[in-house]
Amino acid sequence: MVSSRRIARWREPGYHFIGRPWFVHESILKLEELIEPGWTVFEWGSGSSTLWLGADMMVASAISVEHDSDWYKKNRAELERYFVDTVELVLAELGGAYERYITHYPMEFFDLVLVDGRNRAACLAHALPHLKSGGLLVLDDADREQYRPGVTLLAGWESWAYVSQGGTYAGKTTGIWRKP
Ligand SMILES: C[S@@+](CC[C@H](N)C(=O)[O-])C[C@H]1O[C@@H](n2cnc3c(N)ncnc32)[C@H](O)[C@@H]1O
Repeated sequence: MVSSRRIARWREPGYHFIGRPWFVHESILKLEELIEPGWTVFEWGSGSSTLWLGADMMVASAISVEHDSDWYKKNRAELERYFVDTVELVLAELGGAYERYITHYPMEFFDLVLVDGRNRAACLAHALPHLKSGGLLVLDDADREQYRPGVTLLAGWESWAYVSQGGTYAGKTTGIWRKP
């Protein structure tokens, strides 16, 4: 299934597909159905997801926090290359600034939060008050034991779990939750 927004972009002269998040494939299809262009997004862990948000999903604005300076530079260059000016890529140190970066924003501010970097359980805990009611939280590798303290905080939320069925990543799970 392909969103009408993506089809519309494919029809634009000169457009070529850039990339997609490193999530379980079916979860990306679900997100492409759910994400709306007016959305404000926060992400931990930059990569092809960052470009996807800005260039393919065309969200109104996104903040992506990264701890690795080489990876930050690479992704920054990619955003410039594709003229994506709606995404702010931020370099922040692990152990405080990185995990707490979302607390600079108002409560109930973000429509979507992607947790796909370091220290995911701590990031997730900081994210919850800053996610709108009805907003979506995505945790990649939600099957990992060390993220369980974060997942526990989402008990009772509407959720979808997408599990990779085979190959190197068998069992890898991308979870999507909707805040009540
Ligand atoms: C799973 S990756 C994030 C992927 C991104 N959210 C996506 O879906 O495309 C998590 C972290 O890996 C780190 N990383 C560093 N070097 C990398 C590399 N060469 N390839 C992939 N990830 C790298 C980055 O710090 C990044 O935040």
